[in-house]
Amino acid sequence: MTSPDQFEIFLTTFPGLEATLCAEVRGKGFKLAKPVPGGVTIRGGWPEVWRANLWIRGAGRVLARIDAFHVTHLAHLDSRARQVPWASLLRPDMPVRVEASCAASRLYHSGAVEQRIATAIRETLGAPVAAEAGITVMARIEHDRCTLSLDTSGEPLHKRGYKAAVNPAPLRETMASLFLLACGYDGREPVLDPMCGAGTFVIEAAEIAARLNPGRQRHFAFEHFATFDSEAWARMRAVASSRAPAARCHGSDRDAGAVAMSRANADRAGVASHVEFRQCTISDAAPPEGPPGLVMVNPPYGARMGDKAALVPLYRALGQVLRQRFAGWRVGLVTGEPSLAQATALPFLPPAAPVPHGGLRVSLYRTAPLP
Ligand SMILES: C[S@@+](CC[C@H](N)C(=O)[O-])C[C@H]1O[C@@H](n2cnc3c(N)ncnc32)[C@H](O)[C@@H]1O
Repeated sequence: MTSPDQFEIFLTTFPGLEATLCAEVRGKGFKLAKPVPGGVTIRGGWPEVWRANLWIRGAGRVLARIDAFHVTHLAHLDSRARQVPWASLLRPDMPVRVEASCAASRLYHSGAVEQRIATAIRETLGAPVAAEAGITVMARIEHDRCTLSLDTSGEPLHKRGYKAAVNPAPLRETMASLFLLACGYDGREPVLDPMCGAGTFVIEAAEIAARLNPGRQRHFAFEHFATFDSEAWARMRAVASSRAPAARCHGSDRDAGAVAMSRANADRAGVASHVEFRQCTISDAAPPEGPPGLVMVNPPYGARMGDKAALVPLYRALGQVLRQRFAGWRVGLVTGEPSLAQATALPFLPPAAPVPHGGLRVSLYRTAPLP
């Protein structure tokens, strides 16, 4: 049994972005951060769980690993699941759901595993089990080892709480923040996205620049756990950590609706005074006054919006504008199509491995400062 005040905490991310997330987690002072397939592990207690949900931009969820044991029979799972101190973790009045997955194990029927754990929770804690419950207990059985986790986040963490309006192909906030980090963005230089859509890169960058906590505007599943301390949480949330950004973040898009959406999202995020949006096509994009910084851009690509061949001229135009007008700026371009990235003729560094995103695989193409 895991010790109740120190346990393993797992922060999930997109496969391929584990090392970038780990850099963020270490940079924010979490102990023993280690990249593992699909995420990053740290050690800590409930305050670290709350802090990770509140502070970490790149994580999809924060899971508290509450127990792990060897299991090969349902009867054993049944009795072992009843030994978990559910009452010290969860509340009898809060509905729970169980989600199981099995791989390379004697227990292979995830439905039966879910049912045994749900029964143990219902009969030992008394909490109702409901498919639509906001609290999820996760069981992962791999090579006959069962790991039980609580999803402490609830709604996935890319839902920061400000994006009411979304365009057809939004980038997740978590992924956008990790791509900014992978481009060396630390909040001290200007950022410009000339195809900003709903404004995700611009708003994430402005929040980083203003040192705002990504979870400041939302609620989390852990607020309904037995381990929750509302006063300690209120104190943690109240720590004023914002700073005046050293540079502004800029977005533009040819679509008036996208610009309006970006402005509304920035407003709700509370960063309207740190950002600037305007409507213009890529051929009119120009660097703002002041020192160079980072262009982050996620142009339309193939399977998602329109046809690949038809997009070549757009990528060519983007590359030409950046090469001609953005000397000294670095570029981070996110696309699912290597041939389109090449069409920009930008001097890209070797790309990192593609990352799954919405049924496609996208890659980040980076440059050094443009000559
Ligand atoms: C994939 S979306 C960007 C999504 C954005 N990263 C987000 O998270 O919301 C591509 C954007 O490029 C814009 N766009 C397409 N062609 C453009 C052009 N020629 N000039 C400027 N923007 C353009 C579209 O209006 C669309 O909003």
